[in-house]
Amino acid sequence: MTLTQPFVTEVDFASGVFSPRRGVYQRRLSDMIGMVADPEAAARILESEGDRLIYEVHTVELPVEEGQIPHCTTRILPGTIGGECHMTKGHYHARREQGEVYFGLSGRGLLLLQTAEGETSELEMTAGSAAYVPPYWAHRTVNIGAEDFVFFSVWEARAGHDYGTIERDGFRKLVVLRDGEAVVVDNPKYA
Ligand SMILES: [Fe+2]
Repeated sequence: MTLTQPFVTEVDFASGVFSPRRGVYQRRLSDMIGMVADPEAAARILESEGDRLIYEVHTVELPVEEGQIPHCTTRILPGTIGGECHMTKGHYHARREQGEVYFGLSGRGLLLLQTAEGETSELEMTAGSAAYVPPYWAHRTVNIGAEDFVFFSVWEARAGHDYGTIERDGFRKLVVLRDGEAVVVDNPKYA
């Protein structure tokens, strides 16, 4: 075990930016081709307007060992791809028995959850919402507003991320914009 020194991070609620700046990564349209319901629409946007930013993550960097509690912010930009609202890739935890907590900082979002057995759940999140992702639920967040949706996440270091299952099978539910309103619909391509 490593003895980690205590530290504090200032979090900007509107942007999710960490001060001091720690780990930062971005997911662009080209990273999301395998995740969106309409990859052809994504390819057309890439061609016409370039590789738009979909979401950005600011995270602490901690050893992956028992008892460490990583935490990050995610900022999802508003927008759609082939009518589907901007979202994160979504994942199961590699260790399925590990949960997570999300806390809304700004904007409006929807937390999509599903189990391998076929249960689904959709939770609305705004600034001040604390959402619980229980063990065994895959989770993806979606921006359903006109502004950035920003939230804070806390999980156990060994939970790990399994993006591959979602990349292969997709999510059972999609969030699409209809007449300016975000609507949850069945994913016709769900494997
Ligand atoms: Fe997670």
